[in-house]
This record gives sequence, structure tokens and C-alpha cells, in this order.
Amino acid sequence: MQQVFDYLKQYQKRFLAEFCDYLRFPSVSAQSKHDKDLLACAEWLVAHCRQIGLNAAIRPTKGHPIVVAKTPRGKSKAKRPHFLVYGHYDVQPPEPLELWKTPPFEPRIVGREIFARGSTDNKGQNFAHLKAVEAYLKTGTLLPCDLTFVIEGEEEVGSESLSDFLIKNSRELVCDAVVISDTGMPSLKHPALTYSLRGIIAFEITLHGPARDLHSGVFGGAVENPALALANLLSQVRDKNGRITIPGFYDGVAPFSKFEREQAARFPLKDSELKKLLGPPQLFGERGFTATEQRSARPTFEINGLTSGYQGEGSKTIVPSWARAKITCRLVPNQNPEHVRKVVCGYLKKICPPTVRMEINAGHGAEAYFVPPTGKEVQAALRALKKSFGHEPILMREGGSIPIVNEFKKVLGADTLLLGIGLPDDNAHSPNEKFNLGCFENGQRMSAYLWQELTA
Ligand code: BES
Ligand code: MN
Repeated sequence: MQQVFDYLKQYQKRFLAEFCDYLRFPSVSAQSKHDKDLLACAEWLVAHCRQIGLNAAIRPTKGHPIVVAKTPRGKSKAKRPHFLVYGHYDVQPPEPLELWKTPPFEPRIVGREIFARGSTDNKGQNFAHLKAVEAYLKTGTLLPCDLTFVIEGEEEVGSESLSDFLIKNSRELVCDAVVISDTGMPSLKHPALTYSLRGIIAFEITLHGPARDLHSGVFGGAVENPALALANLLSQVRDKNGRITIPGFYDGVAPFSKFEREQAARFPLKDSELKKLLGPPQLFGERGFTATEQRSARPTFEINGLTSGYQGEGSKTIVPSWARAKITCRLVPNQNPEHVRKVVCGYLKKICPPTVRMEINAGHGAEAYFVPPTGKEVQAALRALKKSFGHEPILMREGGSIPIVNEFKKVLGADTLLLGIGLPDDNAHSPNEKFNLGCFENGQRMSAYLWQELTA
């Protein structure tokens, strides 16, 4: 094993150059103008996987292609443990571009940070796993298990193609466990295993008013203003205590156990630090819950985008013809996504005034994920985290979503080890996203240890 760690140490400079190549692809899955860039990124990944000794192929889908790469399988018929390493090469839209200190797809290294869209979410995290396996293969060190990497291009838009792919290729992908580094940890001194993620439903609502934008002086007052109607509608979904008022929204939500509350209270990022990190005048959240609880284990209703009327320079006096909101709700264990979608959309329709016409477009959806962190694989992962980061790891719940994790369980029967190596100030989904090089290096070592610990 020493050779593996020596190899990792020796080639960090080259790894960084390769990582920059990976980051240069503007693989924005939400924007169709980037379809070719996603394909090019997937092709680059396949070539890279082959170069490090994996058997890799592009697997086309109806949407963006999936990259599947396998460690060479031995000749012996004896059954070896098999782990699937999942990641995604697609990234979130980089907008607003003017807030980036340097362009999002021109990686920039400053001290121990590398800035680029996709650096922490998720290219850096999955690349760390690839570099670990490269170290095994290039030093001729025996891997104690078979590995299959599945790196997809639609995670940031709901993983629909991968969902079909899993069902069609389940025999090939059946495994003992799935390993994913696509979450976070509180600090370099607090490596973490995440045992729960929130689920999600996404949809878009549009209110249609007059047939075209109107002169607000000539007609304003006699027609409904769709922007105001939308603001009025959306203002009714939450009360002043931060509780969602939509009937049925909380159906099934389990109350916190004492254990859960104690765990959340031990989370090392305090409210004051969170406020400083995020910069609002004041924190806000559902009364009766701490910030850690609110952002990891309570459901939410969020407006992700709100558009209507004139957005350009100066003023323009119109009654807009329409208003639109992009909305997602985060879900927690035991909430059913389709049920929540039904009650939320039903409620919005019910309170919609007759002066506008409501159109709702359904988006993706996924259940929350929760696996009690007690199994022997979790223990093995905790040992690998401790050895690689040099600190006692913590167990945590996270508020983000990885839509495919529940399907790994349903289709492949496999639990997932969520071993994220992102930091709270990485700016995932925000301008100036970055990844810490200490996380990158320790992440490679964590991956190298993991295969030993999982098979010990
Ligand atoms: N890496 C995130 C998920 C994440 C981040 C989990 C931090 C826990 C902590 C992932 O790439 C992501 O952003 N997923 C989307 C999924 C959605 C678009 C279906 C999300 O959570 O918004
Ligand atoms: Mn993401």
C-alpha cells in the first residue's frame, strides 16, 4: 500500500493539470446549448479512464451520456466484492456570470483552492476516486475488490436517464455497496459520513394575464397584474414562523428523536458562523428548529427563480402579460414526492384568482434518503476517513439531494456510503465555486484506504 500513497504524493502536480482539463468543459446539463460540451466531457472522461487502466465506455442515453469504467476483472471465477463509485460530470448553470472573479470554465488556483464551476460539485470529488484507482493500477498493487465507476451527466437535472439505465443494466451493476463523494463535511478537521439526504420536487408555475404586455397607464387598474397575483399567491404558502401552510404538506414527516436532536446539536458549524458565511442580515427558519435541523432534516418550499415584466435598464411602464416562478420543495424521510406535488399544486390552483390563468409544468422528483449509520460498511468507511484526514469523522444529515441514491437501493439492493469532501464555503451552485486541494489530496487517500477497509 505504501507504493499507492507514494504514487499519489509524487504525481499531484500532474493530477491538478488533468483536473483543470476536466473543469474546462462547460458541461451545464440544464442548458441545451451545452449538449455538445457534455458529450465532449464524457468522451474526455472515457479517454482518461482508459489511460489510467480502466475499461471504459460511453453509454448513450436519451439525454446526456453515462460513462461506465471498470477495473480489469481477474481471470479467476472466485467472486470478489464489487463496489460502484457514482459521480456526475454535469454542473449547474454558472450564471450570474458578472459575479465570477474569473470565468467559470477557466480554472484558477489561488493558494490551496481551485476555482471553477463544477470543482467541488462534483468533478473534483469524483476525480479524487479516479486518481486513487490509478495509483493502484499504475503501481501494480492488488485491488481487493472490483470497482465500477458510473459517472453521469444529468444529476443536476434529476438523473432521469440514469434511472432507466439502472433498470436495464442492473445485472452488470449489482454490487455490495455504492460509494459517492458528492456531499460535504464541516471542515478539514471534521471528515464526515452523511447518512441522510433530503428529497425534492421541482415545478414551474406561470400565471397568464393579458394577451400582451400593456401600457400600465392606459389599462392598469382594469386588468390583473400577473406579477402581483403571483407574489400574492406565493406569499400564502408560509406563515411568519416559517411553517409551510399548505394542507397535507407535512403528511408523514416523522418527529425528531432525542438522538437526532443531540446529533444535530453537535454539528460543528454554529449559527453565528453560518450567518457570517452566508451573509444575510439575519438567519431565518422554521421556529422550534435549529439552523442545522432546518437545513438538513425539515422540508422546505423555495422559489429558485422569479420572472416577470421588464428586467432591462431604466423603467418601463407596463402590466406584464405573464409571471413565472421556478419552485422546488425539499423533502424529508417518509414524505411521498407525488403526494407533496399533488397537495402543493392543488393548493396553488385552489387559491389562484380567476383573473389569471395558471399553468403548471412538473419537473423532476426524488424521495429523501435515510440509512441508519450502523452497518459494517459504515464502520469501514469511518476508519478510512479517519486514516486519510487524521481526525475523528462525524456522522451527519445533509439537506441537498442526489436523486439516484434511492434507486441504487431499490434496483440494485445496495446501500450508499456518502463520503463527501466538499467544504461549506465551496460555493456549490454559487458564483466562484471552488474546491480545496487538501480535500482533493485527502480524498484520494480516503478512496485508497476505503477499498482496504471495506474488504478487511
Ligand atoms: N452535490 C449535490 C448534492 C448535495 C450537496 C448533497 C451538498 C448534500 C450536500 C448535487 O450535485 C446536487 O446539487 N443535487 C441537486 C439535485 C436536484 C437538482 C435534483 C440538488 O440538491 O439541488
Ligand atoms: Mn449540485
